[in-house]
Amino acid sequence: AAPIDQLVKQVDGLSLDAVKAKFPDTYPDLNIMDLYRAHLSTVLSEVTGVDAALIYPQLGWTSGLEKGDMALPVPALRVKGKKPDELAQEWAAKFPDTDPLFSKPTVSQVHMSFFLKASPLVNAVIPLVHGKGAEYGFNKNDGLKDPKDPSKGQKRIIVEFSSPNIAKPFHAGHLRSTIIGGFLSNLYSGAGWDVIRINYLGDWGKQYGLLALAYEKYGDEEALQKDPINHLFQLYVRINTEMTAEKEELTKRKEAGEDVSALEANSLDEQARRYFKKMTDRDADALAMWKRFRDLSIVRYKDTYARLNIHFDEYSGESQVTEEAMNEVGKLMEEKKICKEDKGAQLIDFSELIPGKEGKRLEKPLVRKRDGTALYLTRDISELLGRHEKYHFDKMIYVVASAQDLHLRQLFKIIELLGFKDIADKCQHINFGLVLGMSTRKGTVKFLDDILRDVADKMHEVMKKNENKYSQIEDPLATADVLGISSVMVQDMSGKRINNYTFNMETMTSFEGDTGPYLQYAHARLNSIRRKAGVSDEELAKADLSLLTETSAINLCRHMAGWPDVVKNTLKTLEPTTVLTYLFKLTHALSSSYDQLQVVGSEPELMKARLALYTAVQTVLANGMRLIGLTPVDRM
Ligand code: ARG
Repeated sequence: AAPIDQLVKQVDGLSLDAVKAKFPDTYPDLNIMDLYRAHLSTVLSEVTGVDAALIYPQLGWTSGLEKGDMALPVPALRVKGKKPDELAQEWAAKFPDTDPLFSKPTVSQVHMSFFLKASPLVNAVIPLVHGKGAEYGFNKNDGLKDPKDPSKGQKRIIVEFSSPNIAKPFHAGHLRSTIIGGFLSNLYSGAGWDVIRINYLGDWGKQYGLLALAYEKYGDEEALQKDPINHLFQLYVRINTEMTAEKEELTKRKEAGEDVSALEANSLDEQARRYFKKMTDRDADALAMWKRFRDLSIVRYKDTYARLNIHFDEYSGESQVTEEAMNEVGKLMEEKKICKEDKGAQLIDFSELIPGKEGKRLEKPLVRKRDGTALYLTRDISELLGRHEKYHFDKMIYVVASAQDLHLRQLFKIIELLGFKDIADKCQHINFGLVLGMSTRKGTVKFLDDILRDVADKMHEVMKKNENKYSQIEDPLATADVLGISSVMVQDMSGKRINNYTFNMETMTSFEGDTGPYLQYAHARLNSIRRKAGVSDEELAKADLSLLTETSAINLCRHMAGWPDVVKNTLKTLEPTTVLTYLFKLTHALSSSYDQLQVVGSEPELMKARLALYTAVQTVLANGMRLIGLTPVDRM
């Protein structure tokens, strides 16, 4: 981007490479704030006598533009001899009046606030956004093994998310995992990492023996083909009801003194156990049947994930962990003396292995049942080590509800105790709270498809209220679907992950307040302004940006300049709300700009300049929306 080069040269007389060499991990050609930080550090170094390299990392963000674009907490520079508030006053007074990029700083107690001068900013940031387009904000260098030597390749991250259980409802926990996991995958891939998306299905255990029995008794081939997820679920519910009734009946008779051992030996529970035994013994027929259920379910899941712009590189699952691999792990646990026998079963007593509170907190999980079957935890241990062998990942994230905090803590600790601390250190549990009150309008069974259909119906009703606009939308149902999905996602991502929230169809589908439809509306409106003005890209590139002098225009540019820093910060917080909070600040600034910055009806040069601004804002908004997993709509 030429304007950035010019700015760099104009400022401090440095070349881009010289700035990069002076301040490591700085990319002024991608992130204009890096240039501002570099310049400000250099100027402040003159003023304060502190080394510029020490100032640079202390330049922080502000909580809002009214507090400046950058702030410096004076005590962070550890200058001795004077009180920080006095130093702040003194330095502000010494700050050059003639600085090309910053106005004179303001001081509030021990904080110095810095405001960007409008004209260089406006002239640099709009072309930068236009030039980078869909890439604006994303810095691929983060994912390089060695940022100085790209030939060494990318770092690799596994994001495991969604992970529903076959034949069981796709509950709120899976929904959140899907949304957050999709977002994290986008985030890392935008940052240049090689991302492997894994869906670890719940697809193994005695309950799948029971499901197979149910299919043999009541299965319907046609129904299975047509809607495997629902059919399998119905079978599962039916056979479970039957099994519960049978158990009650047997208990009753036993209590009455009857000998029920013959009945028990042929109970559904027992049959399921035998069927599952066949599966673990790799009986061809049993496995083939189970594999069909799994494959058909995956086909369906894929359709639904596609609606959410999500795909997986691997459908792994509990069934994919082999007995051999688990036996290996078993041996290793014995060697390392971390498990012990307890009434024929194997367990890990953490309080004996780790002193104090931590050991107690980790409790006493079982790793092998008395009958020899492995457990959820055991499978996870093998799966984790297997993934490391297969993918040699640099980092792995598990996106799982906080209800499983203990499980994952146990998992990572066991890996460490097995002698793989290096691997355990690469793993991270990204947890999240509950969704309360989630049910569809037709009932309480919650498959992802039902929820999405329900919300889309609701959005469709809302859209129909504006007949005029409605008639101009090419495919209203498809738009309603996208808007419905946006509603669900934005509501889910609005708070911190760990917070619980209440699923509320009314609020999430409203155009008022910080909702998905509000963001979509902001995007569609920008699109319509551009469409109505009918100015070509070439014309826009020639716009005279110096005409953009209004506060609203400048504030939009300040927001846009901050976007790469927001992405960078999100890589630290791993919170979708970091992005959403930004997007709502941007769209609020946008909404309040329209009165001041009319496009249609302005004289041609001004119109072009404003269009150039709005087109850039649209790009940033769309980039942010895509990052969190939304599909920006052009009309609604
Ligand atoms: N299928 C599990 C459930 O529904 C979630 C799996 C989480 N991932 C894992 N590696 N344990 O509870």
